[in-house]
Amino acid sequence: MERIARIRERLQAEQADVFLISNPVNRRYITGFTGSAGLVWISSTKQALLTDFRYVEQVKAECPGWELVRIETYSDTLEELIGQEGVRSIVFEEEYVTVKQLKEWQERFPSVELKGSSGWVETLRMRKTPEEIENIRRAAQIGDEAFAELLPTIKSGLTEQEIALRLEFLMREKGASAMSFAPIVGSGPQSALPHARPGDRILSYGDFVVFDFGCVWNGYCSDMTRTIVIGEPEEQHLLIYDLVLKAQMEALRAVAPGRTGAEIDAIAREIISEAGYGDYFGHGLGHSLGLEVHENPRLSKVDNTVLEPGMIVTVEPGVYLPGFGGVRIEDLVVVTEDGHEVLTSTFKELYVVK
Ligand code: GLY
Ligand code: MN
Ligand code: MN
Repeated sequence: MERIARIRERLQAEQADVFLISNPVNRRYITGFTGSAGLVWISSTKQALLTDFRYVEQVKAECPGWELVRIETYSDTLEELIGQEGVRSIVFEEEYVTVKQLKEWQERFPSVELKGSSGWVETLRMRKTPEEIENIRRAAQIGDEAFAELLPTIKSGLTEQEIALRLEFLMREKGASAMSFAPIVGSGPQSALPHARPGDRILSYGDFVVFDFGCVWNGYCSDMTRTIVIGEPEEQHLLIYDLVLKAQMEALRAVAPGRTGAEIDAIAREIISEAGYGDYFGHGLGHSLGLEVHENPRLSKVDNTVLEPGMIVTVEPGVYLPGFGGVRIEDLVVVTEDGHEVLTSTFKELYVVK
């Protein structure tokens, strides 16, 4: 399989014998195993999933082609495998092994070189397969459909929490297995908090309301944001909304293979800064997603990754005015051979609750 072949190439380049995966998301990506405990062992001749009694049947069903090694303790099993294969060096995922775990391994296997690594699998995850894109597309559709059903029910007098609950219910009713993250519903001054938690604030006249949400379909996440206004918008509402929308659409238009995340981020940032609101757009323009809601590459000042077909990014500029409110608009976009395709289909004209 392509993914394992790429790992083996890296092992060869690093002159190491084994790559050990501890990150549960990477474990799923490489093996298909959706359980919550296990280690993946990849050497030049062996690909094995180490897990305990609870998951034996699940591994058989989910991981064809993988050798199942049932553990009593991970260290005992690792010691056996090291002996069987004559292993002299192991590359592990340094962000996902605790200091305690590493100390134990160093004590148990003093003759094995243990080398930390970062991003081996995450780099593979950046380019999505057609099947992964279809899962994300469906998750995005569910978000669109849920929001379309939610909108006509929104009125002043409801609380943020009530609305967030309805939104989650609608997505789950349509088949979502989980939320990508707890839905954000921020109204009035709360809409100026990019990651507002829905509370018991009652929606009222003059509020911007930011909805930022997504769901999981077949393991894959979606993510979208829309902002509406309660009652007739005033000049300030229209000014900020139009500014964010312009920045969003211009940046979106530029998404294509060969562009970098930093370039796309700069397009939106310049439009917002030139209008005098640069200080009120304090986060990156977007991020990739997949099995997790935040993945690489990022659309940000500091990410110079060159976009390639099959990568997916969000484009989500915002302007947040403390005490008044904020606007964010977020679409999901897949990079194609000759440009991009937008996966979010909800309209972006300002929606006014009368
Ligand atoms: N609130 C998560 C995101 O849009 O990135
Ligand atoms: Mn979002
Ligand atoms: Mn996002």
